[in-house]
Amino acid sequence: MNITLRQLKVFESVARHLSFTRAAEELYLTQPAVSMQIKQLEQHVGLPLFEQIGKRIFLTEAGEEVRRYAQRIATELRELGDGIEALRGLNRGRLRLTVASTANYFATHLLAAFIRRQPGITFQLEVTNREGVLRRIQDNEIDLAIMGQPPGGLDVAAETFMPNPLVVIAAPDHPLIDEPAVPAERLQDELFVLREKGSGTRNALERFLEERGLKLRGGLEMSSNEAIKQSVQAGLGLGMVSIHTVALELELGRLRLLNVDGFPLERNWYLVHRTGKRLSPAAETFRQFILEEANEHWPTPEPDSCNSH
Ligand code: PGA
Repeated sequence: MNITLRQLKVFESVARHLSFTRAAEELYLTQPAVSMQIKQLEQHVGLPLFEQIGKRIFLTEAGEEVRRYAQRIATELRELGDGIEALRGLNRGRLRLTVASTANYFATHLLAAFIRRQPGITFQLEVTNREGVLRRIQDNEIDLAIMGQPPGGLDVAAETFMPNPLVVIAAPDHPLIDEPAVPAERLQDELFVLREKGSGTRNALERFLEERGLKLRGGLEMSSNEAIKQSVQAGLGLGMVSIHTVALELELGRLRLLNVDGFPLERNWYLVHRTGKRLSPAAETFRQFILEEANEHWPTPEPDSCNSH
């Protein structure tokens, strides 16, 4: 079969997204270029690889078979790249890092500190939510990830390196601001600005409420911490975020923390990679840096001292 690596790469992307448009976006190609590659691949295979039902596309049985091999080949190629990187040594390394959106508040500062020490290493940094990070790890597309605790049953090595206290934030003139102990039940009377489904922060809040048999009155849903912070400042409701995202606003008095029973929720940040993955020298050096020095470069704010403002 005269299949080319390029056809397989395009196919793998379409099969992952089940969308020609999203594959085109990911690969910086036009949609006709993607369709052309798939058509040529189908000609070589001699069978259709996708079928369209209504507006959606699905893999055919032959498509599933090709996908299995395409994934294997993509992994092998990445490992070949990593192996070559290792032979080149630390000075020319390139690291693919994915971080949960909340971790982006400190990840860039840690990267800056690391790059000052290892200027030869280059980074590809992707920011997405918890669900996106898990997908990347599973697909073996990255070297390392920074996220909240990964779920059990995944084939990953996870090492914790920093606390991640989750706090309830409010506008400075909120009536509950100076209450010394707000009962958790009281949250049910308030409007909340929530993160989207798939966010680790959102999961943690849902678990907290579920454990206490509580239900929120509802509220707005937003897919970024920045949008939540702005909304809470504007008086749209309360929010729950990692303290790492609000250090500046707390210092400036634009946001305040509520003393809600059970808060801060204690979570931790983890450095994660697939078990058995051979880390390149660049990835291994970055791993050690994070585990040993992250807290020094980015100390976690103490909720108690923030409250004294
Ligand atoms: P996020 O954070 O998905 O809410 O951005 C990651 C996590 O806390 O797991």
